[in-house]
Amino acid sequence: MKPKNKIFSGKTLAILTGGGDTPALNSSIEAIRNRASMLGFNVYGIRKGWKGLLGDGDIINLTNHPYDGWYGGTALSSSRTNPFPTKKNPENRVPQILKNLKRYKIDVLVSIGGDDTNGAAKKLYETEGIPVIGFPKTIDNDLRTHTIHSYNGKEIEAVLCPGFPSAVHGIMEFANRIRTTCESHQRICVLEVMGRDAGWLTGGAFFGGAEISIVPEVHITKERKEVFFEKVKEAYLSSPKKAIVVAVSEGVRWYDKIKDKVDVVYASSEVDEYGHPRFGGISGIIASEITQKLGIEARAQITGYYPRSGRCHEYDRKLTVTLADKVADLLLREEYGQMPVMNKIVNHIELEEYNTATIDMGSIGNRPLQEVYYDPDKFSFTESYHHFLSHILEKPEINEFKYDFPVVIPQ
Ligand code: F6P
Repeated sequence: MKPKNKIFSGKTLAILTGGGDTPALNSSIEAIRNRASMLGFNVYGIRKGWKGLLGDGDIINLTNHPYDGWYGGTALSSSRTNPFPTKKNPENRVPQILKNLKRYKIDVLVSIGGDDTNGAAKKLYETEGIPVIGFPKTIDNDLRTHTIHSYNGKEIEAVLCPGFPSAVHGIMEFANRIRTTCESHQRICVLEVMGRDAGWLTGGAFFGGAEISIVPEVHITKERKEVFFEKVKEAYLSSPKKAIVVAVSEGVRWYDKIKDKVDVVYASSEVDEYGHPRFGGISGIIASEITQKLGIEARAQITGYYPRSGRCHEYDRKLTVTLADKVADLLLREEYGQMPVMNKIVNHIELEEYNTATIDMGSIGNRPLQEVYYDPDKFSFTESYHHFLSHILEKPEINEFKYDFPVVIPQ
């Protein structure tokens, strides 16, 4: 008997990944591919983000091929190519993109990205009528997803983006592990954590035991810097092993004595096609100022790509699969310009399609860390942020050497 046609047989859906990678991208691609195939779509992968739709196009066929969704990063590769004219690249690449969508007979486009990639996709939908569905991703967790966190009878508007759970787990582990080295040398370790202008990811270090944290949302002015040093000194002197971890977001606004202003530390003067500069190096400055001011040895540790790389975390796996279920729902209803999100922050068991919602994709603005999640007086995250993260992370085993030895006194 000839198999019956599926609802979208003869149609093609293409997936692209744009912006910085995350450990959950392959999981997202696989989950979307599987659901789209089930509905009858032929599924393509566009390589290197929007770049793969320029020139002759760079497209691969994902239909009926094995795919390892647990493997981190993106098998499609990524870029920060912007289809629209920018200061860095004034060329309008939209005509090339439209030409290739037609040449490859792509009926629906799923763009996996943050505000930039999905913002561009949304513009193509609005100005050119291209059927697009957005899929969230960022380790920074700064994309407005309107995910509600219920805490002590209050509803906090939080964020939950695929990629963040794996990354925050990595930062938690890093902070937890580094303690043994800090203790061996009785030093302060200053951990620098990615996240651009938002402090969400730095909270992983707090969950992993960091005593002090500073985030971009709260500026370290000349006056606050003095209080910060006091807090660091207090935490160090009261620590049993004379060792502490200080977590700093890469985008921290820090008072610069020479410039006499609060500033960000840039890794380079280059900006990408979306106008973003690259941050990096603040931990070195803070570590050396701590040593100068307090006379305590401090070392900077840049966590860099560590949270962005490696295997997909279980929470992210379930999250991407759940959000892909919602993509299937959008496809069935032929609703475009939308992006699936989680309604509430829940533990991995409750990540189910009925807990999802859709929001307008792209250009939805960045979401900094909520005020309620950080206590500027303590230079630390709050109990409510701990509660938020405890939906995603399991408390790590406290890294602690439990034995004390008697001191030998010569007779
Ligand atoms: O947006 C993700 C992110 O990892 C940021 O946290 C970081 O500032 C930036 O990308 C780094 O970009 P690149 O990989 O281009 O150095």
